[in-house]
Amino acid sequence: MIFFYIPVTIVFLLSSVWYLKNNYDSSNKNHTSFEFNTSQSKDFNFDCGIRNLESESRIINGISSKPNRWPWIISIRAYDKLFNKLSSHHCGGSIINHNTILTAAHCVYDLKGNNLAIIAGVNNIREKIKISNLFYAKSVIYHENYSNVDFYKGVDIALIRLTKNLNFSKNIQPICLPPPGFNLEKIENKALTLIGWGSIDGSSKTSSLAENLQEANLKLLNYDPICSTHVSYNPTKLICALGQDQNLGSNACYGDSGGPLMKEINNTWYIVGVSSFIITDDKSNCYPRAPSYHTQIASKLDWIHQALKKL
Ligand SMILES: *[C@@H]1O[C@H](CO)[C@@H](O)[C@H](O)[C@H]1NC(C)=O
Ligand SMILES: *[C@@H]1O[C@H](CO)[C@@H](O)[C@H](O)[C@H]1NC(C)=O
Ligand SMILES: *[C@@H]1O[C@H](CO)[C@@H](O)[C@H](O)[C@H]1NC(C)=O
Ligand SMILES: *[C@@H]1O[C@H](CO)[C@@H](O)[C@H](O)[C@H]1NC(C)=O
Ligand SMILES: *[C@@H]1O[C@H](CO)[C@@H](O)[C@H](O)[C@H]1NC(C)=O
Repeated sequence: MIFFYIPVTIVFLLSSVWYLKNNYDSSNKNHTSFEFNTSQSKDFNFDCGIRNLESESRIINGISSKPNRWPWIISIRAYDKLFNKLSSHHCGGSIINHNTILTAAHCVYDLKGNNLAIIAGVNNIREKIKISNLFYAKSVIYHENYSNVDFYKGVDIALIRLTKNLNFSKNIQPICLPPPGFNLEKIENKALTLIGWGSIDGSSKTSSLAENLQEANLKLLNYDPICSTHVSYNPTKLICALGQDQNLGSNACYGDSGGPLMKEINNTWYIVGVSSFIITDDKSNCYPRAPSYHTQIASKLDWIHQALKKL
């Protein structure tokens, strides 16, 4: 019998290529939140997790195109105010109300000292950005116990408050947070959907980022031993997921960070995880046959509600 030993490394899912100077502001070092100087907006009541079914699948000129299929995902960018420039796609995130984005702490932590912007309502992240899809961040808050060296605590979570409200439309909709008491054990082994613009060939190059939003079906394996093979792992704080079809080997990769891992219940979509980290092979390529790990949102509802008040 032969065992193929695959050396693995554990990495956050950041898009590793980074264009703007990270003028990290040391005065922010002791704080888990930071503000941008703009005016604040208010929350409203709204529906969530509902897709515009008309856009479910559309054929244009023989090419299958699915615009607006996932209207809550956004692309996080660094914004250089001085030169009015945006970075390339940095991370994903999800709209949870009219002016708030849920993402991973490592996505915003790495951009400390920069202004942030998000692109909402787009499917292709290489297209020219329309002003109506571009929103700026007013403030950011991330979990107080987050650190960029400890992957396993399940506190890789952050919120971004936008300077102006998103107007919900067929392209722009919020996803639902899991209801209180949401029980993950009930969906063990069940299908989850992951979406993102992350690397499609396993490498961390910007050119490997997907142009059009990708989706993959994963399986929740929180109580499966495969999840503890590479990491010491707490199933009540993280979500461990593996591609449903192992031959396809679909899973999260660089650039998928901060994006949603979702479950559909009664035609309504819930965000159950925020993509956090993965296992890579000896060439630092994503290793899709190993699980991906996601911050478990059901265990972070109290934190989210507190943080919404502080933003
Ligand atoms: C940050 O905390 C350290 C240790 O607690 C302290 O020495 C330092 O002065 C603080 N820095 C700022 C900018 O508050
Ligand atoms: C915000 O910006 C305005 C105009 O640039 C300035 O007058 C104000 O002092 C700034 N506020 C803070 C808290 O820095
Ligand atoms: C952060 O960690 C400390 C020490 O483990 C704990 O007491 C505190 O409750 C944690 N904070 C949050 C928001 O979970
Ligand atoms: C949202 O709609 C309101 C009312 O039509 C409009 O004033 C506002 O500019 C719109 N905001 C955005 C971000 O498009
Ligand atoms: C879905 O809706 C049906 C009918 O309203 C309800 O009986 C069922 O409990 C719902 N399922 C979940 C998981 O909420």
